[in-house]
Amino acid sequence: MRRLKDDTADLHALAEQYVRILDADARISDYARYLRAMLGYHLPIEETFAANDDLAQLGFAAQRRRKSHLLERDLETLGEERPFARCTAMPALPSMGHCIGAAYVIEGSTLGGRYILSRLPAVLAAVRGSATAFLEGYGAETGARWRAFGAIVERALADRDAEDAAVAGARATFSTLIDWLAMFEGRDERRVAS
Ligand code: HEM
Repeated sequence: MRRLKDDTADLHALAEQYVRILDADARISDYARYLRAMLGYHLPIEETFAANDDLAQLGFAAQRRRKSHLLERDLETLGEERPFARCTAMPALPSMGHCIGAAYVIEGSTLGGRYILSRLPAVLAAVRGSATAFLEGYGAETGARWRAFGAIVERALADRDAEDAAVAGARATFSTLIDWLAMFEGRDERRVAS
């Protein structure tokens, strides 16, 4: 887990730059766009996790760890209409190690979600509790589920090759997510206009 964190820290910092909902001037439309982007990425990656026998055997409960329904609920609460776009440029995850690395990115983001939730600017804080199910994630269970995931990672990555694969999978996941977030950010008429 330490290596996954250290070897992806640069990409986490980059990803943060594409999440603008902590900006003082963030609007509900910025938040809705962020939720749309995250939903578009979560739908395919959650399907990949659910279809992966290695993850299941390691004890990764893909169905219980799904978050796309929370994203859909938040978007519906905000009055956002379908269709919701779906990312097609997903990472290649050719081995169990790669999948573990991808799951690390998605599971780790629940920690960031809790952090973001506690620091939302005023306009967005108004929807806290009504349209923030995704940011709340696993709620009070977040810490326990992160530790349980950490135990799975430690079990799964028995040698240096598996670790290398996990780092590669995590980096590919961050990179494709950043590209996808950047497409949504590019649609921001406020920033385009300024
Ligand atoms: C403005 C946006 C973001 C902020 C402010 C943020 C903040 C944080 C914070 C504070 C933590 C550490 C929490 C703790 O240790 O209790 C964390 C962890 C993490 N975040 Fe983010 N995050 C953001 C976006 C993202 C995104 C978009 C992803 C990818 C989907 C992501 C993936 C992760 C991962 C994998 C970890 C676990 C790191 C580790 O301890 O190994 N974060 N984030």
